[in-house]
Amino acid sequence: MAVHVVEHPVIRHKLSVIRDKTTSMREFRDIVGEITLLLTYEATRDFPMEKRPIETPLCGMDAHMLADEGRIFLIPILRAGLGMVPGMLAIFPLAKVSHLGIRRDEKTARPSTYFYNVPPDLAGSTVIVVDPMLATGGSLNAGLTMIKRSKPKLLRALCLIASPEGRTAVESAHPDVEVYVGAMDDRLNDKAYIVPGLGDAGDRMFGT
Ligand code: PRP
Ligand code: URA
Repeated sequence: MAVHVVEHPVIRHKLSVIRDKTTSMREFRDIVGEITLLLTYEATRDFPMEKRPIETPLCGMDAHMLADEGRIFLIPILRAGLGMVPGMLAIFPLAKVSHLGIRRDEKTARPSTYFYNVPPDLAGSTVIVVDPMLATGGSLNAGLTMIKRSKPKLLRALCLIASPEGRTAVESAHPDVEVYVGAMDDRLNDKAYIVPGLGDAGDRMFGT
């Protein structure tokens, strides 16, 4: 299974707040960060650990630490993915951040890439791609295809809301990538927006 829906009352509640069209930009930004933090917690449950010797005030011990914390790359798909970065950095303050600019054509909903700042060699690294909306799946699929050329050791993605169409698209193009989403909505409308969704995530986050 490539797409996991993280069922949690707190996530569902917070998603309902940002779905509401009367929610302000400031509150929208804050809550996107909070939901991202909660999704990150679930999406990293199986991250490898290693033991390192430390001294507590009482004695020495072999302490469990994240094995690859210094080799985590966050890749937001611009623009809206940027809003998820602070929530992830709250959990992984040492993560590096690379940017990938992909926008959908307003008429065709097809993605086009306008900025690519991903290191060509990600061997040994853990990569987490963030983008709030998985609609047709075109943007995430294009991003994952490009990032795979850098051969990361582990590639994951986090989205706030997905459509069934997006789920099918990403599961068939990238069955090896685990995608964690906060909600699976009903459908896409005739403009390829997720329904009920939350509207245009970038516009609501940046007020433009
Ligand atoms: C939105 C969203 C995703 C994409 C999802 O970005 O943030 O990247 O659409 O749609 P898809 O699954 O059909 O590809 P948009 O292209 O609107 O750019 P923006 O983030 O700059 O607003
Ligand atoms: N992009 C968005 O921001 N929202 C959608 O519902 C679909 C694509």
